[in-house]
Amino acid sequence: MKKIIIALALLALPGLSLAATAGYPLVKAPIDPHDHASLQRGAKLFVNYCMGCHSLDYQRYNRLGRDIGLTDEQVKDNLIFTGAKVGDTMKNAMPKADAKRWFGVTPPDLTVIARSRGVDYLYNYLQTFYLDPTRPLGVNNAVFPNAGMPHVLWELQGWQKPVYAMHEDAAGTEVKVLKGFELVQPGKLSPPEYKEATADLVNFLAYVGEPIKLERQRIGIWVLLFLVLATVVFYLLKKEYWKDVH
Ligand code: HEC
Repeated sequence: MKKIIIALALLALPGLSLAATAGYPLVKAPIDPHDHASLQRGAKLFVNYCMGCHSLDYQRYNRLGRDIGLTDEQVKDNLIFTGAKVGDTMKNAMPKADAKRWFGVTPPDLTVIARSRGVDYLYNYLQTFYLDPTRPLGVNNAVFPNAGMPHVLWELQGWQKPVYAMHEDAAGTEVKVLKGFELVQPGKLSPPEYKEATADLVNFLAYVGEPIKLERQRIGIWVLLFLVLATVVFYLLKKEYWKDVH
């Protein structure tokens, strides 16, 4: 029994070690790649709030529309504000040199960000911007300390300030650790609604990072059905061939 418990604990370990970025524990992102409504909301949030600075250089509008259940017309009406054509890739309007001048860093292309950083990281990143007067933009981030990105979703989330707790480190010295947040100015969305909005955005970014995933799963079902049918056919054939032998 003891051995089983130890084995289970060991199995759980990688999960635990992944769950911390910059010391701040990550909450799991509740996303569902099959939820078209969520993907559509995420795409809309992305073009409204992120594409001013970030591009998706490897994602075409019409491919996106097809994958998340929108017609070309709907894509044009809801997702394109830059004068782009529906077959174009999702480039942003901001010249890279300007972005660098304004923020000190060029906002990265986000096509594969969900794969490089992980969806949980993104989910927490979007929720943990907090007021910090010592930073040039007046905000900091719990999972990406000293991030050069403004809190672009402040209108939806509102503003929150950090709550610290004192904690003794290994050497016995008292250190201040970030424990959570307190909403000091509410946004347009309630905290649970804001969480849902960020989950939609992350769901969308996860799809963009691996658009073929949905298709693979769709095809996978047909492949399995084919295999089942083929097994039945082969079984009947085998019976037919061996009939005379027995
Ligand atoms: C006003 C410009 C601007 C907007 C709008 C903006 N960002 Fe950013 N973003 C930046 C900059 C600048 C960086 C680079 C930060 C750095 O490296 O310090 C960045 C970095 C990021 C990163 C990378 C974080 C990392 O760990 O490297 C992610 C993810 C991200 N942004 C997501 C978003 C999302 C999602 C939106 C829309 C809700 C958004 N951004 C809107 C400017 C912007």
